[in-house]
Amino acid sequence: MKDAAYAFGSTWERERGRTEEEWRAAVVSRTRFVAEADGQAVGMASVGEAGSSRAASVTSFWVHPQARGKGVGDALLLATVETAREAGYDELLLWVVETNEHAQRLYERHGFKRTGATQHVRPGDARVEYEMSRKL
Ligand SMILES: CC(C)(COP(=O)(O)OP(=O)(O)OC[C@H]1O[C@@H](n2cnc3c(N)ncnc32)[C@H](O)[C@@H]1OP(=O)(O)O)[C@@H](O)C(=O)NCCC(=O)NCCS
Repeated sequence: MKDAAYAFGSTWERERGRTEEEWRAAVVSRTRFVAEADGQAVGMASVGEAGSSRAASVTSFWVHPQARGKGVGDALLLATVETAREAGYDELLLWVVETNEHAQRLYERHGFKRTGATQHVRPGDARVEYEMSRKL
């Protein structure tokens, strides 16, 4: 997360301050994927309910800097799409920071479009993030 602080709503400091109990609860609250190459973890993504029984969301999406540009993000995103579809959701949502063009292009390649909704990345940060969505 430290290598891509620009991409996330939370901060490394805030996440580091979580207790082990909070981490364990967070891990099981959503379906989490870890991408592996040569026995090493090189990426992750999570999928779970997004506030209604019809829509799921993708969060915690990250690929190791040395593994970027090789399709790991595609594989992780496809896994979240399939999981949400099989769970019966109609729609998959995510938020992406306005300056994160690589991630936006990846999502667009997979059929995500901006919904028009925006929010600030975090209080005190002028940047906004866009909500993106695709039907399942
Ligand atoms: C966004 C991210 C998940 C994409 O994963 P990926 O496996 O690199 O995805 P792709 O292989 O499809 O490559 C995505 C783009 O990065 C480019 N790229 C290639 N090598 C790269 C490298 N070494 N570093 C960064 N980007 C690279 C690719 O050419 C592609 O470019 P495009 O914008 O023309 O499509 C990954 O870059 C990442 O973890 N970024 C930091 C965290 C983040 O932004 N998470 C998403 C939050 S919404």
